[in-house]
Amino acid sequence: MGARQREISVSEFFTKNRHLLGFDNPRKALLTCVKEAVDNALDACEEAGILPEVAVQLEVVATGSSAVLPASQATRFRITVTDNGPGIVRQQIPRIFAKLLYGSKFHRLRMSRGQQGIGISAAGMYGQLTTGKPMKIISRTGPRAAAQYCAVQIDTKKNEPLVLENKQVEWDRPQGTQVAIEVEGRYQKGRASVDEYLEQTSIANPHVRLIYRMPEGETKEYPRAYHELPPSPKEIKPHPYGIEFGMLLKMLQDAKSQTLSSFLSSDFCRVTPALANEICKAANVSPKAKPRDVRGALAETLYQTIQATKVMAPPTNCLSPIGEKAILSGLYKQIKGEFYTAVSRPPSVYRGNPFIIEAGLAFGKTPDSATKPEKSVQPLAEGEQEEGDSELARVIRYANRVPLLYQQSSCATFKAVLATTWRNYGIGQSRGALPAGPMVIFVHIASVWVPFTSESKEAIAEYDEIHKDITLALRECGRRLGLFLRRRERAASEYRRRNIFELYIEEVVEACNRLKGGKLPTEKLKAQLQKIASSRTGGIKTEETLGKTGAGPEGLPHSIIVTAEGIEGDVPPTLDVSRAGDPATEGPDRICIEEKLSPSKPGRRQTAKPRSAKKAPGKVATVPSLPKKGSSAQQQAGTVRTGRKAHLTRKNK
Ligand SMILES: Nc1ncnc2c1ncn2[C@@H]1O[C@H](COP(=O)(O)OP(=O)(O)OP(=O)(O)O)[C@@H](O)[C@H]1O
Ligand SMILES: [Mg+2]
Repeated sequence: MGARQREISVSEFFTKNRHLLGFDNPRKALLTCVKEAVDNALDACEEAGILPEVAVQLEVVATGSSAVLPASQATRFRITVTDNGPGIVRQQIPRIFAKLLYGSKFHRLRMSRGQQGIGISAAGMYGQLTTGKPMKIISRTGPRAAAQYCAVQIDTKKNEPLVLENKQVEWDRPQGTQVAIEVEGRYQKGRASVDEYLEQTSIANPHVRLIYRMPEGETKEYPRAYHELPPSPKEIKPHPYGIEFGMLLKMLQDAKSQTLSSFLSSDFCRVTPALANEICKAANVSPKAKPRDVRGALAETLYQTIQATKVMAPPTNCLSPIGEKAILSGLYKQIKGEFYTAVSRPPSVYRGNPFIIEAGLAFGKTPDSATKPEKSVQPLAEGEQEEGDSELARVIRYANRVPLLYQQSSCATFKAVLATTWRNYGIGQSRGALPAGPMVIFVHIASVWVPFTSESKEAIAEYDEIHKDITLALRECGRRLGLFLRRRERAASEYRRRNIFELYIEEVVEACNRLKGGKLPTEKLKAQLQKIASSRTGGIKTEETLGKTGAGPEGLPHSIIVTAEGIEGDVPPTLDVSRAGDPATEGPDRICIEEKLSPSKPGRRQTAKPRSAKKAPGKVATVPSLPKKGSSAQQQAGTVRTGRKAHLTRKNK
């Protein structure tokens, strides 16, 4: 037995357990590789204060002697992700891309997409495992530096990089990084696909310009809607409530401070020198004691005292939430609906880690059968379902602005959606099921450390604090939706009543006139009766609520009207150059798009480029931003009414 005991390297472990990193099947593996590279590119650009411009290219690669297959049948792909970020210094390239658990984000407390130091090297390892090809990197740190090319593989036994090629090359970009991986994969559109990931990334990252070269040769561009970076999150120190006893012991041993009091105040956030002394006093240990000498029972008392002491919640400038207006605009840009709303919760804390929950909702009617897309012949992906009469809401989940596309049912966000009683807001819901109806529910968690349920970062663990905040955000969205629906229902019934009254006005006037021997001023009487009918059925408010006046729906301020000519009113800021405001200081935001007008008055869909039109290979299909009319850069998000039959489908479906 003893002779068989061996050390296992982390790469060996993850080679066998690659499903833990999101490489369980070829379709998901393709997505995971793209996701890791894009997330890194966005993190790098934002950290360097550069507005991200990321190009993603998927190419089919021929295997063996066989010809290049169509994308839907191909089994091997080359993924190339290019960014305009700060680049990587030559010496770091091999370890970043060919050593698991190596990175710059794990040890710090600051919101970022990556956190574990395993993502891109795992993608490279998967490529190496399935195709035998190395990962190829080009990186340039500035226009005056030379571009460095590296081909690297992992020595899985040692978890160390093997550099196969390393040279300076000509590169047409002034700075940035390009990562190319050849992997075994499957390309399939639909739910949980690369296409969906990029689309959802663009919803939550309106400051990013994404160019996607699809394997069929088509190019899709997601233009930048915000021209400013989100505020850069600051790094914070651990909060005393967020550490476990073992971690405190380790921190005490590694402390650089000379005294316990200075250790407490310098190595933790929100612990002032006065509070540090207070903790020492309560724990009956000298503030001047050397941190290394605090061990055993003394350390345990110190730990318990810290947990029992009242410490201010951690600062939240380490977080960079998306913001209500940006969520609204993102949803509005990508999802067709009638009503949109977004909520950013105030910051909360779980295990000493600050987090912010943001929720959004897009609600709209299903398209009528004439405009229903043809039934998909492709098999459905995980979590995907046929849209039909019993259409259920769709939940789109994000963690630190990254879309989460797998393991929906084990995610805290999804569970909170199920646990919310949507019937209270006028939405049908079977027991234990998603709410029914044409609805997209958006949930985002922004945190310095997102508690994922596994290394593949697909679902969020169900901490009570997180669950509570998601529920509160969803309830607020639901409450606003309920208000909108109730108001519309009431207005519709009043409108029907008024129509019935008006049907009889003519008859009543005629009858009265006959009784008076034809001497009655009929027009005057008719106008008076019409006035009464209108006032008894809600007056102008009814028309407003039903979108029949051209003015904003009553009670829902900050309106936008979208007609064939463009948008009038309060344009959501993401459609313009302004950026998301501070969610904490802004009031409830909502957009509502109302009812169809006549078919001769085409709506937004007709003014913009068709979303689903087939393009010739190589052609650029820009995902359209909305046409603007009478808008200013600083206009506020609010209520939108469109002159089109509203329905809910994904933009480029
Ligand atoms: N395109 C890039 N430009 C600049 N630096 C990069 C780029 N890609 C990766 N890096 C650096 O390489 C490190 C390792 O990346 P990797 O994806 O393996 O881990 P991570 O992003 O830190 O965490 P996670 O495993 O959660 O993705 C990053 O921390 C970052 O510092
Ligand atoms: Mg990463």
